[in-house]
Amino acid sequence: MKQKNPFTSSELAEKVDSGLASRNRRLEILHKFALSQAGLNTLDEIVWNIAKTAIAELDFEDCVVYLLGEDGKTLVQVAAHGKKNPVATEILNPITIELGSGVVGATAATGTFQLVSDTRKNTQYIVDDEIRLSELAVPIKYEGRVIGVLDSEHREENFYTDEHVQLFTAIASLASIRIDTAMAVVRLQATVERLQAAETQMNEIRKEQDRERKEATAQMIQASKLATLGEMATAVAHELNQPLNIIRLAAGSSRRKVSRGTADPQYLTDKLNRIEDATTRAAAIIDHMRMFGRKAKEAPKLIDPREVMTNALDLMGEQLRLDGVEIVSELAEDCPPVMGHAIQMEQVVLNLLTNARDAMAERDEESKITLRIFADDQGVHITSEDTGGGIREDVLPRIFEPFYTTKEMGKGTGLGLSVGYGIVRDMDGTITAENIGDGARFTITLPLVS
Ligand SMILES: Nc1ncnc2c1ncn2[C@@H]1O[C@H](COP(=O)(O)OP(=O)(O)O)[C@@H](O)[C@H]1O
Ligand SMILES: [Mg+2]
Repeated sequence: MKQKNPFTSSELAEKVDSGLASRNRRLEILHKFALSQAGLNTLDEIVWNIAKTAIAELDFEDCVVYLLGEDGKTLVQVAAHGKKNPVATEILNPITIELGSGVVGATAATGTFQLVSDTRKNTQYIVDDEIRLSELAVPIKYEGRVIGVLDSEHREENFYTDEHVQLFTAIASLASIRIDTAMAVVRLQATVERLQAAETQMNEIRKEQDRERKEATAQMIQASKLATLGEMATAVAHELNQPLNIIRLAAGSSRRKVSRGTADPQYLTDKLNRIEDATTRAAAIIDHMRMFGRKAKEAPKLIDPREVMTNALDLMGEQLRLDGVEIVSELAEDCPPVMGHAIQMEQVVLNLLTNARDAMAERDEESKITLRIFADDQGVHITSEDTGGGIREDVLPRIFEPFYTTKEMGKGTGLGLSVGYGIVRDMDGTITAENIGDGARFTITLPLVS
């Protein structure tokens, strides 16, 4: 049986016309929206543009954009246009909504739009700033996941039409990929910030470690210095004996002359001068010892390596001679100064001398230390050669290690060369060891001061 058409042909034409008109209008709105979104980059710009478009093009009173928070459980207001929020790009009273709660929460939880024609009949309605009678919420979905919700409320009941639903949904879907990308960028930025914070923290830790390392080195220098000081005690005792002897002799002969009544003023003045000189010498030795024991705190300064060598020999020369060691020193006259701490440098040289003495003490051969200081365009060189039989091939690679010693317990600390290495390195110089003829040669090279 033939179905009777319920419309007349003119009615039908009118319907088709109005259908086409509204379709055109919808396409136009979406086209405009797509174009306006094209130039936007940040998440903020994108969501505020959605809210603005909904109001301008769909005649909505307001439009609020919610995005799912990182926890995936709450929706956060990120843009709100309309009465509630007349000032764009700033949310006066941003709210967060639990997933599933209220119309917006239900939209996000179900992933389908919610249309409320009369909020008085809807128990889910959440009052924001004032009661409005109808509400439309559509999900923003990307790849099947809900990433946010577009929401609009209107004073009048039954305000939202099917066309509104379609357009709002289309806007949400057009914007979704851009929102998702922008959210990924935001997350990426947060990750970058976290990484940067971690890097800053790492740098702090590195600085702290560096400080601790410096502290440890300083302690090691001090420990080895005290060890050297111990070794030096005998030398210094002897060194002090000499001026003390002079004082004793001068005082004794003066007393004898006085008691015999033969002391003329000239004789006594001579003796007193000798006593004064000897006390000055003794005081200088003690001063030097004291200075040597102190921790170096001052900044490096220009020092004369030859003076360092002379001071070291002043301290140890006598004892070395007593041990039967011949000392030859060739200190170039045109030697430029170097940058460093005189006392630390002296410590390095003293250790070279004691090491050489120790090596030679175990042998019956003739004991001789040759010290040289000279400069060329590579820098200032300080060398010490001995006749102690040299360093065993298996020992040689390890001598600069801290605590490495071949000496018996109580005799060696194994710190001398490692500390010396650190001191020379701090002066931007190098220290090397090699075997030559019948002994070892140590070479310190320090940079020329430009
Ligand atoms: N002139 C040298 N001749 C032979 N061996 C040496 C010489 N100087 C250093 N050594 C070796 O290097 C080791 C480490 O020296 P050092 O760091 O000064 O510590 P220590 O003198 O307390 O042993 C010595 O134990 C020794 O085996
Ligand atoms: Mg040593």
